[in-house]
Amino acid sequence: MKVLIVGDIVGRTGINRLKEELNKRKDIDICIVNGENSASGRGIREKEYKEILSYGADAITMGNHMYYRKEMLSEYSKLSKLAIPANLTNLVGNKHVIINKNNIKIGVINLIGTFAMGDIIEKNVRNPFEVAIEEINKLNEEGVDYIFVDFHAEATAEKIAMAYYLKDKVNCVYGTHTHVQTSDETIIDNKMAYITDVGMTGPRDSVLGLKKEIAIARFTTGQYLHYECSDNEAQFNAIEVEFDDNTKKAIKINRINN
Ligand SMILES: [Fe+2]
Ligand SMILES: [Fe+2]
Repeated sequence: MKVLIVGDIVGRTGINRLKEELNKRKDIDICIVNGENSASGRGIREKEYKEILSYGADAITMGNHMYYRKEMLSEYSKLSKLAIPANLTNLVGNKHVIINKNNIKIGVINLIGTFAMGDIIEKNVRNPFEVAIEEINKLNEEGVDYIFVDFHAEATAEKIAMAYYLKDKVNCVYGTHTHVQTSDETIIDNKMAYITDVGMTGPRDSVLGLKKEIAIARFTTGQYLHYECSDNEAQFNAIEVEFDDNTKKAIKINRINN
């Protein structure tokens, strides 16, 4: 089985780039996309949700940007392929998603980190390590063949610790949120695929997707200036992970940054 995991989609050009890449990659069995910035850099709406799935994604994971779309807070639970961070206590939605495809059952869990994720997260977050085990147990009761965990977090240590904590329980742990791809992709104990951050599928020549002039002005003046998503053409950041269908062990992880 070959799985494509795509890092945070940012804005219109990010979505367009996803479409282009999924059109080219016909050898992918499963595709999981982080869509937390797909609506002009902030959150996701039903429009982007449907669009991303229509291009071939099987599940969409999220993150801290879910709060930016107030009108969506009551809607997330209706989007059956959208996994919300399972350890947020004040959000309603699917705490995991199960993909049924080609007679294989794949569970997808999204968790959020506890370090430097903003006030609203820090006030409403449960321990991600504890919640990971709860969701893994539920997925095992459902009889899944594979489990993927998107750990949406700022701190590298928190993500690496999660990987070692879950290495005997899931098939892949990957980080999202920083929008900067790390070059530490690996297969832990010859079975579980891991990378600290998949990166961003979003505008080049920007500051994490934000127009660079605005980001620089924020830092140089110390003022909070309104977010504007860059409309530059997008880079594509992803990982491609291959599994042995019999043992379910990861046998290859390729990092994509182009
Ligand atoms: Fe993001
Ligand atoms: Fe994020």
